[in-house]
Amino acid sequence: MFVRTAYPTENPQRFRTVLRSLFWIICKPKFVVFVGPPGAGKGTIANELAAFLEIPTVSMGDLFRREQANGTAIGVLLSTLINEGKFAPDELTIGVLKKELLKFKYWRGGILDGFPRNINQAILLGTMLKEQGAALTIVIEFAVPEPDLLNRLAYRLTCSNKECGRTFHLKMLPPKVSGVCDHCQSKLYQRPDDAPAVVEARLATYRTQTAPLIAFYAKEGLLKTVRADNTTGKDTVLKAVISLF
Ligand code: AP5
Ligand code: MG
Repeated sequence: MFVRTAYPTENPQRFRTVLRSLFWIICKPKFVVFVGPPGAGKGTIANELAAFLEIPTVSMGDLFRREQANGTAIGVLLSTLINEGKFAPDELTIGVLKKELLKFKYWRGGILDGFPRNINQAILLGTMLKEQGAALTIVIEFAVPEPDLLNRLAYRLTCSNKECGRTFHLKMLPPKVSGVCDHCQSKLYQRPDDAPAVVEARLATYRTQTAPLIAFYAKEGLLKTVRADNTTGKDTVLKAVISLF
């Protein structure tokens, strides 16, 4: 017998989920995960690699900041957590990610910048991709010593255009025109969670919750490590990452 799920007008979210599932089973999208501490250069390289591979990038932090900017209930809850350097709850995080991945643009896959960030999220991601016929092909770890991270975040400038979100560094990667994004000419700003006390808390959260992912993915045979300290320029890091594909 036929099972009618729902007409698009009755439950658009459910309809899109079913459509996406079918689509993913046919297209078998492939995903890349970026792991690294705050300021490791995940966002910087994700934008460049996305352009090179012609796949989109999903930054969990950017998705959350969008919720905050839109003043949604999730955004209000997140403001306190993010500004204290803590992680969002796993169920909420995976919910936001799943909703984003319903978009058509992920039909070939994408770069996951900032997801997963703990073992539980890694297991949830593995299950979700497997169920949908998609695959995680590589996990790239960005290895940067802590003193370099502190310097980077203290001088980071972020593009205010949510569709762009590129980052610059006042000293090491300055924009061509002061305070203006090279790519979309929007205004640059400093992220509130780049305040030194919050950065310390984010690093502590990374050490306890995210760093164990490195051994987890090494065991799965998916991990590649790229040196990305302050003596390795952005272009060298990008070349090293591209050579992995
Ligand atoms: P998110 O926005 O992802 O923050 P993060 O992981 O702390 O990482 P950053 O964005 O700060 O650093 P980046 O590695 O992208 O570095 P960038 O390229 O900008 O997440 C924010 C918050 O959201 C989290 O703290 C958490 O609360 C929450 N959240 C997110 N995901 C979650 C999840 N899965 N579960 C629960 N909660 C979650 O580079 C930094 C600077 O360095 C820039 O100035 C750049 O120009 C410069 N730079 C980059 N590369 C180089 C280089 N090679 N040499 C010199 N300078 C460089
Ligand atoms: Mg980032």
